[in-house]
Amino acid sequence: MSGAPATTRHLLRDDDLSPAEQAEVLELAARFKHDPFGATPLAGPLSVAMVFDKPTLRTQTSFAAGVAELGGHAMLVDGALAGIGVRESVHDVAKVLGRQAAAVVWRTYRQDFLEEMAAHAGVPVVNALTDDFHPCQLLADLQTVREHRGELAGQHVTFLGDAACNMGNSWLLAGATAGMHVVVSGPDGYLPAARMFQHASEIAALTGGSVRAVGDPRAAVEGAGVVVTDTWVSMGKEEEAQARRAVLGPWSVTADLLAHAASDAIVMHCLPAYRGNEISAEVLDGPRSVVWDEAENRRHAQKAVLAFLLERSAGPAGGGR
Ligand code: NVA
Repeated sequence: MSGAPATTRHLLRDDDLSPAEQAEVLELAARFKHDPFGATPLAGPLSVAMVFDKPTLRTQTSFAAGVAELGGHAMLVDGALAGIGVRESVHDVAKVLGRQAAAVVWRTYRQDFLEEMAAHAGVPVVNALTDDFHPCQLLADLQTVREHRGELAGQHVTFLGDAACNMGNSWLLAGATAGMHVVVSGPDGYLPAARMFQHASEIAALTGGSVRAVGDPRAAVEGAGVVVTDTWVSMGKEEEAQARRAVLGPWSVTADLLAHAASDAIVMHCLPAYRGNEISAEVLDGPRSVVWDEAENRRHAQKAVLAFLLERSAGPAGGGR
């Protein structure tokens, strides 16, 4: 409690990890999967505050189980009760959580609120999904791709559907960081912002990857070894459900569409899934689907992220614990 360490590392968006750091976290995640209770670089008790302003299933359970496996305790903070940014300022909540927890995991709407939390908590802050990014899911997804298809660099991945959401942005950044060839495909108005492409392209130029938007879903999956989709109606967009379903139909991941991808392509979905909308039941529940591996890998990847951030944040003060 003697103050913030010299440097505090956070995972607020996918490009907070350099290519080498992303590879290091994925390697650690693989080790945790192999040996869940293996040696960790953590010293002392680990209390993690988990704050949820949006619904959760995988994130809450995988962080709770993962922190327990690390020998720590995950405190569940009900976002509605805490009223962060409403009842109490983000600044004040950050100061308080940083005095109670070794790390803060926050699922919320606004990326700028998350950044404010990171600026003031004095302990690592992890993005457990915002409107803009979902970096924990991406680490689990990259772990899953590695398990099923080997080396990430050079893999062709196609994201279909509402690519303007957190998952589309995160695939651009994390995929480019991993040296993958990322294609996003959706109707007009459902593609990541130009600045996101620009930034991902700059990363890809360093890693040998690439990013591209392709309108036609069949052309977009041509040659893809990894086909990804996500709900068409992200949390907070429920009132747009009808309008979204009306335009996104051609991007549904069906067996017909999948026939245009590589013959050994895997299919990914972060869940929750809506069969008959963004993906058919036949594909989601079929042999190419790796969705349950993705769900499991959330735990391993997040343990690795916490261990990485805590270790890199250990300064003279010994962290915020
Ligand atoms: N894009 C989805 C991801 C769910 C994990 C959402 O934000 O609801």
